[in-house]
Amino acid sequence: MSSKRPHLVRLAVLASGRGSNLQAIIDAIEARRVDATIVAVISNKQDAAALERARKHNLRGIFVDPKLFAGQPDNREAYDRAILAVLQEHDVELVLLAGYMKIVTTVLVNAYTHRMMNIHPSLLPSFPGLDAQKKTIEWGCKVAGCTVHFVTEGVDEGPIILQAAVPILDQDTPETLAARILEQEHKIYPKAVQLFAEGRLQVEGRCVLIKQGMPMGEALISPS
Ligand code: GRF
Repeated sequence: MSSKRPHLVRLAVLASGRGSNLQAIIDAIEARRVDATIVAVISNKQDAAALERARKHNLRGIFVDPKLFAGQPDNREAYDRAILAVLQEHDVELVLLAGYMKIVTTVLVNAYTHRMMNIHPSLLPSFPGLDAQKKTIEWGCKVAGCTVHFVTEGVDEGPIILQAAVPILDQDTPETLAARILEQEHKIYPKAVQLFAEGRLQVEGRCVLIKQGMPMGEALISPS
C-alpha cells in the first residue's frame, strides 16, 4: 500500500488570542487526520499566544500591525490588502479565522469566497457577535453549541458548514459553558477543514451540502 499523502491544502490561520483552535488544527494535521499544511499564522496582535504556538511548531508566524494603516481613510481595507498580499505570497488556498477579533472586509471576502471559514461559539444564526455564551445563558436556552461557517460580508452570517450542540446546565456560568463548547469547537473545525480538503463542500445559496453524505447524529435533549 502506498503511504503517499493526497494534496495538502495550504492554510493560513488568522488569530488574535490564545489560539486553542489553531492548536486543534495543528494537532489534527500532525496526526494526519487533516490533509492540510499551515503555511502562515497571521495576527493583528503582536503578543497573541497563537503566534507563540505557531513558533513552537516551526510555523511561520506573522504580525501585521494595524497601527501602520491607522491614518488612512480606508484603513480596514488597507489592512486587509496587506493581509491579502501575505496570503497570495504563500499561495494560500483556505483561510481560517480562529478567534480573529477583526471584522474582515470585502477585500478578503471577495478574494476568498467559499475559501474562508470562521468558528463561532453559538448555534448560528442565534447569538452572532461578541459574548455569545453569556447571551445564550441569559436567554434561558437549554442547548448551546458552535458553528463553522464560510465567511461573508455580514458578521457570523455565512453558509453553515458544521454545528455541534451541547447542553446548558442550571449552574453554568459563561466560562463553564464556553469550556464545554470549546471542546466541540476543537472537533468540528478540523473536521470542516478535512471536508474541504476532500472537496466535499458544495455551496448552494445559503446552504452547504456535504457530498457523499454524513451519518446522522443523535438528538440532544436538554435537560434529558
Ligand atoms: C472561540 O470560542 C471561537 O469560537 C471564537 O473565539 C474563540 C477563540 O478561541 N471565534 P481560541 O483563540 O481558538 O482559543
